[in-house]
Amino acid sequence: MKIEINEKISWVGKIDFELRKFHGDQIATESGSSYNSYLIKDEKNILVDLVYKPFAKEFISNLQKEIELSKIDFIIVNHSEPDHSGALPDLMDLIPNTPIICTASGAKAIQGQYHKNWDFKIVKNGEKLNIGSQDILFIEAPMMHWPDTMMCYLTKDGVLFSSDVFGQHFANPAMFDDLSDKCNLIAESEKYYANIISPFSKKTAKKLNELKSMNLNIRTICPAHGIIWRNNPNQIVDLYEKWVSSYQENQITILYDSMYGNTKQIAENIAIGIQSVDANVVVKVLNVSKTDGSNIITDVFKSKGILVGSSAINNGILNSVAGLLQEICNLAPENKKAGTFGSFGWSAKPIENINEVLAKAGYNVFPEVFKVQWSPDEAVLKNAQEFGINFFKF
Ligand code: FEO
Repeated sequence: MKIEINEKISWVGKIDFELRKFHGDQIATESGSSYNSYLIKDEKNILVDLVYKPFAKEFISNLQKEIELSKIDFIIVNHSEPDHSGALPDLMDLIPNTPIICTASGAKAIQGQYHKNWDFKIVKNGEKLNIGSQDILFIEAPMMHWPDTMMCYLTKDGVLFSSDVFGQHFANPAMFDDLSDKCNLIAESEKYYANIISPFSKKTAKKLNELKSMNLNIRTICPAHGIIWRNNPNQIVDLYEKWVSSYQENQITILYDSMYGNTKQIAENIAIGIQSVDANVVVKVLNVSKTDGSNIITDVFKSKGILVGSSAINNGILNSVAGLLQEICNLAPENKKAGTFGSFGWSAKPIENINEVLAKAGYNVFPEVFKVQWSPDEAVLKNAQEFGINFFKF
């Protein structure tokens, strides 16, 4: 399947409508996804990115319908992660001498994964390659996801091939923003940003500024996953500009797991307290063992405050909460407050430790930890509501 972007550029990737998990089981992809590969035909023919290995044969067979493989002059690998480079060994078996354009870090990562001495052409930020009617400008964007991340830009057509940046896990055979459900598209873009890019928000902010100062006339953005932004590419750039800078909505997210329902009761009453102060604040109460982790990360990203609760077990906390805690501490939180609660039998220390972990990760922690020995009675639940009010006002 090929989708024409203009008379010279076609999408030649693979849409996986059935994909429901990505990065192993780390990210839920309820809307499926796509692996976007692009073919540029000019005096020089260029393939930009490939697809995940399970689709290599189908990809190559489709590509052969569009071009004789030996006529591909260069393969640009913007990013070496296997979801985009997985088809490289199969393709290189057929055209082993084709130069691969990537960053220095990309070449190392490709060699580390596939153990082949292909003809790597290393490019640096600002270098250009003339392909006939126009140039391709290479824009290194290290840690705008991975160290090797690069984008490239077609100088005359104004097309930015942005790698994972500006992407989403969103399968739509129409492939363009103006032909997609806007609500879904933005929600998936935000989830993608929260889970994939937000740990590197500072670097992303810097690169966005750099892109702006280059005064590129970007008319189409072709990311490596999901929908192509052709109607108004600035809409996703504008959203990224919002998301990179300590983004928060009027939302508090309460995350917990509970052995016998005691911590759950506390969570629910904290929620009642918060809601009593502000009817408009969105309060989400999520049992972390019953909620997908990548959706939790999205809610944490959107929240101005989070509360984390667990039952104490032995000398620690429940493993569902411990795993989640590690993830939310990796998010490089900025300007987010956090609080802690839980129930215990004989030692509250494991619950108090949660607050310490959150503080170390950079959350602005509410100093009082709401901890309950054994099960809460009516008076304690009232106190939990009061705790919610005080947390909200903190
Ligand atoms: Fe979609 Fe970082 O690979």
